[in-house]
Amino acid sequence: MDGLPTDERKPVALIALASSADLHDHPEVKLLAEALAGLGHEASVETWDDESVDWHRYALTVVRTTWDYTARRDEFLAWARAVPRLRNRADVLAWNTDKTYLRDLDQYECPVVPTAWDVDDSATVEALADHLGVSVDEQEWVVKPTISAGSRDTGRWSSIDDAVAHSRELLAAGRPTMLQPYVEAVDAEGETALLYVGGTLSHTMNKSPLLAPGEGVPAEREARKRITTSAASPTQTKVAEKALRAARKTLGGGLDLLYARVDVVTGPDGSPQVLELELTEPSMFVAEAGPEAAERLAGAISTALTSVGRA
Ligand SMILES: Nc1ncnc2c1ncn2[C@@H]1O[C@H](COP(=O)(O)OP(=O)(O)O)[C@@H](O)[C@H]1O
Ligand SMILES: [Mg+2]
Repeated sequence: MDGLPTDERKPVALIALASSADLHDHPEVKLLAEALAGLGHEASVETWDDESVDWHRYALTVVRTTWDYTARRDEFLAWARAVPRLRNRADVLAWNTDKTYLRDLDQYECPVVPTAWDVDDSATVEALADHLGVSVDEQEWVVKPTISAGSRDTGRWSSIDDAVAHSRELLAAGRPTMLQPYVEAVDAEGETALLYVGGTLSHTMNKSPLLAPGEGVPAEREARKRITTSAASPTQTKVAEKALRAARKTLGGGLDLLYARVDVVTGPDGSPQVLELELTEPSMFVAEAGPEAAERLAGAISTALTSVGRA
């Protein structure tokens, strides 16, 4: 052996970080590109829908800040299927870009926030309230499109009629919907994001609440977002791992997830429920988590390079 650390012996790899056109300077990609450079790789931030990009040049393409895809999901998934050596894989993205995946988690016994789909009458909400043992008038409700990100078109309602009207409006525009009880603990404690890198828990963050009581659907909530470091309890970790296991069971064995974020909230009985499993383009909060987070992600990308030859 020549005594050099493994990374110095490796040939430099070209890695694409896929972004939307306006987010090339986002810390999520910049810090990761720097950490990859530290390992001897060359990272290039590319716009996912830029037709002039030759994705075949890259040893690996990592989906990162492609946060403009939700209105063009079909186009995004067609792009993902055409890119060689993509992480996470295109089939993962196809499953994960529609929140109906929560049904699969539920089916594999992972606790999720209770959800009714495509609600177009109050009877469905009353049935859900009955099932949950809550009073329909005292409960607040959240309505969101099943394909969405960044809380766009998401509403918090104190009246069931307003919630149903919101769902109907989205349905009339051809957008499938979901309705959930507003999880009250979010107001006091926010949500807990467990960030997995290369299949291992890397860091845990707390996200502040985003929806205000009775506000309906305001256009912009970015300014409310506060991200702080946190710690996951054993029960939260157990639930997050159930979510990842359910993803593996649904998508088939041999699934290697380069990155994953599991957002959990505290349900009315005090136990964690999954609000979102993000396997597509999660913010990994690398700027907020400290330098080790980007370094761990870069390390996992380096490791993934050894398996893509077989992808
Ligand atoms: N059922 C709910 N109870 C409490 N807060 C919710 C609920 N659903 C969504 N939210 C709030 O809205 C935000 C966005 O919803 P989420 O399901 O995470 O979708 P996305 O982040 O993809 O837009 C969450 O971060 C949370 O603050
Ligand atoms: Mg979210």
